[in-house]
Amino acid sequence: MQIIKNIEKMQTAIKALKLRKKEIGFVPTMGALHEGHLSLVRQAHKDNDIVVVSIFVNPAQFSPAEDYKTYPGTLKMDAEKCRKEKVDFIFFPDAKMIYPEDYLTYVEVEELSKILEGKFRSTHFKGVTTIVLKLFNIIMPDRAYFGLKDYQQYIIIKKMLENLNICAILLGMPVVREKDGLALSSRNEYLTKKEREDALLLSKALFYARDLVLKGERNCKNIIKEIYRILLKGKLIKKKNIDYVSIIHPQALKEMSSVDQHCVIVLAVRIGRTRLIDNIIIKER
Ligand code: PAJ
Repeated sequence: MQIIKNIEKMQTAIKALKLRKKEIGFVPTMGALHEGHLSLVRQAHKDNDIVVVSIFVNPAQFSPAEDYKTYPGTLKMDAEKCRKEKVDFIFFPDAKMIYPEDYLTYVEVEELSKILEGKFRSTHFKGVTTIVLKLFNIIMPDRAYFGLKDYQQYIIIKKMLENLNICAILLGMPVVREKDGLALSSRNEYLTKKEREDALLLSKALFYARDLVLKGERNCKNIIKEIYRILLKGKLIKKKNIDYVSIIHPQALKEMSSVDQHCVIVLAVRIGRTRLIDNIIIKER
């Protein structure tokens, strides 16, 4: 496994592999790797000759009030995990190389970036799409792997690739959860024992909502009410801590008033200083 920090070196290595007709699978991450990230790496291995993981905590997707400076993770631990998974390259640039002082160019997927998460993190997705496009131009992947844990991010990137005629194939992989249901997230490291107990209510509420739909409930208001009821059982969760609970169309991300055959329930809740997101995809046969 090679760890490459330099953009030109990375591009040169990729070009050489392309000349040898190697297919490149790419997993962009911000490090603090867990089984969620590793599930993407494993799928990338199955589909491609070469696997590249990028580790870059992207300042452009954090607002000044967010946790950029304290975001968890060390390269040493992440590299160990990647080595075990037989990753071929880690791309680990520093922020100055990605965003030099005279940096001016950003790419934004309009509308989709302003709803749901975008309402609470107004410049977040602009930062995400910019870094993902830059990384795609460096890694030139045949296939790129994203988690459906960040459902809105996945849809926004899908739209960007379509709109900008980028021919990498995008694969959205299922949410990896702890045995008790908590969706894996690098930010779970921030949770105290008590906060973690309440954090479990996110997946509990989503599973309960899915069961309601499968039993025939169609009214989104009723379903959302039930989700709030379960979340508010948390000692540390007040109504003001729930940023949103929405039932949305899987592509347009527009809120629905009655459940369709295919929809996604998304939510965001703040517990202590940690903001957690989760979702469940509802697909009826
Ligand atoms: P990060 O939060 O490190 O996540 C990297 C990838 O891992 C994303 O595609 C995310 O959806 C996926 N992932 C995280 N938790 C997961 C889980 N529990 N199950 C399945 N997949 C999971 O998302 C980002 O980084 C950044 O925004 C990035 C795309 C790298 C751009 O900076």
